[in-house]
Amino acid sequence: MVFTAPPGILQSEALEKYIFETSAYIGEHEQLKGLREATAKRYGFLSEFAISADQGRFLSMLMKIMNPKRTLELGVFTGYSLLSTALGLHSESQITAIDIDREAYEFGLPFIQKAGMENKIKFIQGDGISVLNEMLNNDTQPEFDYAFVDADKDNYKNYHEQLMKLVKIGGIIAYDNTLWYGMVAKEEDKVPENMRATRIDIMEFNELISSDPRIESSQVSIGDGVTLCRRLR
Ligand SMILES: C[S@@+](CC[C@H](N)C(=O)[O-])C[C@H]1O[C@@H](n2cnc3c(N)ncnc32)[C@H](O)[C@@H]1O
Repeated sequence: MVFTAPPGILQSEALEKYIFETSAYIGEHEQLKGLREATAKRYGFLSEFAISADQGRFLSMLMKIMNPKRTLELGVFTGYSLLSTALGLHSESQITAIDIDREAYEFGLPFIQKAGMENKIKFIQGDGISVLNEMLNNDTQPEFDYAFVDADKDNYKNYHEQLMKLVKIGGIIAYDNTLWYGMVAKEEDKVPENMRATRIDIMEFNELISSDPRIESSQVSIGDGVTLCRRLR
């Protein structure tokens, strides 16, 4: 996949630098820092797949506030969001982490192990839609308190329908990249061609979320935009 995201679109580069230097990188867990640096070295520009350090802190904090018991992550890559989430969870809480690619997860696994978080994680290699369908077809369907979605954007609307059955009433579903590097607010002709199709997927998804009476939502302008949805019914 060719991915050339313009830097600093959501916030100005100066503001981003300020946030990282005065907050996000200060006290960043040493294994998160190690994972972030190793991912950049190994994956180059693709390391932009990972959520930003300030968003990682936000997810960790969200876990501490919510104290969910069963959580789900769709789209793991090398595990920055996964480790951030795990670090915020109570020792008995669990994350089911799904990704079609095992290699990137295994690259990040030593950092997760050194942070002592491996026992909270059950990794499933597979296509997100198929794995969730299997869960839905089980006699005893799992019930999640929280889900973080950061996999294939063209399937967000399908994940949403599946997660409305798998996440408890009162639970939270967080969707990443809902501002798509600020491209959602640009005219199409100002958007790089390789970002156009996903821009449309995300815009359609955002519309769907804001008119879905089964949830209440909050668009958070952090990282590349994360939308928190609370299931009402
Ligand atoms: C943006 S990256 C996830 C970044 C990760 N949350 C982090 O903070 O490092 C998206 C991931 O979704 C995975 N993915 C793409 N399509 C998928 C699918 N159909 N099912 C499961 N995972 C998928 C990719 O392999 C990739 O690792």
